[in-house]
Amino acid sequence: MSSASEQSVLATSLRSDPCGLLRRSDVGRTVRLGGWVHRSRDLGGLVFIDLRDRTGLVQLAFGPAWTGADVQALAAAMGVESVVLVEGEVVAREADRVNPEMPTGEVEVRVTALRVVGPAVTPALPVARGRGDKMPAEELRLRHRYLDLRRPELQANLVLRHRLMQVTRRYLSDRGYLELETPILTKPTPEGARDYLVPSRVHPGEFYALPQSPQIYKQLFMCCGYDRYFQIARCFRDEDLRADRQPEFTQIDIEASFVEREDILALAEGLIGALWREAGHEIPAHFERMSYADAMEYYGCDRPDMRYELRLRDVSAIFAPLDFAVTRTALAAGHRVRGLVVPGGAAWSRKQVDELEALAKGAGAGGLLRLRRADGAYDGPVAKFLTDDAKAALGLADGDLALFVAAPDRISSPALDRVRQECARRLDLVDESAQRFLIVMDFPMFEQDPDSGALAAVHHPFTAPHPEDMAAHPQDPARWRALAYDVVLNGTELGGGSIRTSDPAVQSRMFALLGIGDAAEQERRFGFLLEGLRAGAPPHGGIAFGFDRIAMLLSGAPSLRDVIAFPKTTAARSLFEGAPVAVPADDLAELHIAVRGVAAETLA
Ligand code: AMO
Ligand code: AMP
Repeated sequence: MSSASEQSVLATSLRSDPCGLLRRSDVGRTVRLGGWVHRSRDLGGLVFIDLRDRTGLVQLAFGPAWTGADVQALAAAMGVESVVLVEGEVVAREADRVNPEMPTGEVEVRVTALRVVGPAVTPALPVARGRGDKMPAEELRLRHRYLDLRRPELQANLVLRHRLMQVTRRYLSDRGYLELETPILTKPTPEGARDYLVPSRVHPGEFYALPQSPQIYKQLFMCCGYDRYFQIARCFRDEDLRADRQPEFTQIDIEASFVEREDILALAEGLIGALWREAGHEIPAHFERMSYADAMEYYGCDRPDMRYELRLRDVSAIFAPLDFAVTRTALAAGHRVRGLVVPGGAAWSRKQVDELEALAKGAGAGGLLRLRRADGAYDGPVAKFLTDDAKAALGLADGDLALFVAAPDRISSPALDRVRQECARRLDLVDESAQRFLIVMDFPMFEQDPDSGALAAVHHPFTAPHPEDMAAHPQDPARWRALAYDVVLNGTELGGGSIRTSDPAVQSRMFALLGIGDAAEQERRFGFLLEGLRAGAPPHGGIAFGFDRIAMLLSGAPSLRDVIAFPKTTAARSLFEGAPVAVPADDLAELHIAVRGVAAETLA
């Protein structure tokens, strides 16, 4: 919205203008404003108050030449964060009083009338912060969210969030996608986390699940001919939380019929482009594609940060002839030796390299083999075993440090991923301004438990396997790739999706491979999907983006909590409302619930 139209849209019977949009062109107008007292300065004769609303700040000036004595006294006594209505004239500031850092810095409002409509108690934490003031502890901010949410930074984040939602709606609606809602009280949908359960009062002993995603419903929409669907959907997952995860979060959820992978990926590229543009960034129209196998091979993870290289190498063939116990044993067991070369890393101290080894061990590796080349000489446990051929094949330059892990890939990949990331950080290789989008595809359909051999879906059970892999290895599902894809930015997964299984017989087989072989059990848990598929299903597929993650990245906020109005802590608590809570015994009884195994004082 242009600032002139926003000005008139935001006018009400109590205010003529929002605070933050007054400009030099308003000089001479009499305005009525409403807002919060951000800061106030009493200079004896003159009182200045910065008045704040969501559009910004404007300076109010109270002086004996234009303000009555009673209003002047009221202004001088005003507590910060009180809500006031004022009337006054917009005047140009004198040249030496102009504040170029404030959009309203060329003007001030000389107040003639003042009413305190919402007096404030002393705030528990400051809303206005001077340059260099430390941010209050996050716990305090979350506890007093009614103050924290007043901070201009958080307001800017939530305004951006709103704009991104509107862009999403317009972009998808313009392309024929229907915004359709799906239930919140529903049945478990497997997305890999635990469900939040809601007891039914009228059906004793029965529970709804809150949706981990609208996955099954959106597929049913496809079966029913709503061939393009989207929803800005709230999802609930009871999982271990981190800075980029919340138990309750929002997805841009999309599904379409008569599509193949590239149709969904082109839509994804277009939507992401529109969202990034809204935040002021032009990004490439087409994102690089990489197979899951290559991502794991060269970066050790399925969402590599492409802002720097430091690619992983397989050096098994170089180590094979060497008489070095650690690598020989590993190679004999059928494992590989993989690693990376860190230019300039030879200058790191033993302690610094020990720290890298600790990272690798933390990820399950038995160790991290180091090899330095400095002043022409090789140094490290394997140095004395190196042949000239091995040295030539490794190709270390003077000053390089090479780091290797000898282990099965499922251990060396995560270990080397951590080491790679830490090396990049230390070498300052991460260009913070770069936006490196990547589409990772051809994920394996299943992951196999190394001990039990049991299969679990890597994406979810509704993803279609690669038809070629099913045909080539019909009896070896662990080798099937999936028609799944993730959109990754700078090492963060923005979204993921797949082409779905639309053949009910294949879907049944997938359930069976996942350990739900019993037909009755399949019907009980997923009958509502299978019935929909049997009733005539088009080929379909889709994707879901983590909306909070997108808002976080585009606002530059360090945490999801800075783009969610009322977030949960990493312990899954909301400190402001105070949830979850114990409920009175009578309420539990009505829900046919008995709580066991908690201390008596926890019960309400
Ligand atoms: P998936 O589980 O990959 O796919 O989720 C899609 C995207 O949602 C975001 N996300 C989260 N954001 C914040 N907090 C969380 N706890 C959280 N968990 C996930 C991520 C992720 O990429 N139904 C499928 C999509 C599909 O197949 O169409 C699904 O939910 O950014
Ligand atoms: P040595 O002192 O000869 O026993 O060499 C052992 C070195 O190999 C130590 O630096 C270990 O950190 C390293 N190491 C042990 N296990 C592994 C492994 N699986 N992969 C890579 N390096 C390892």
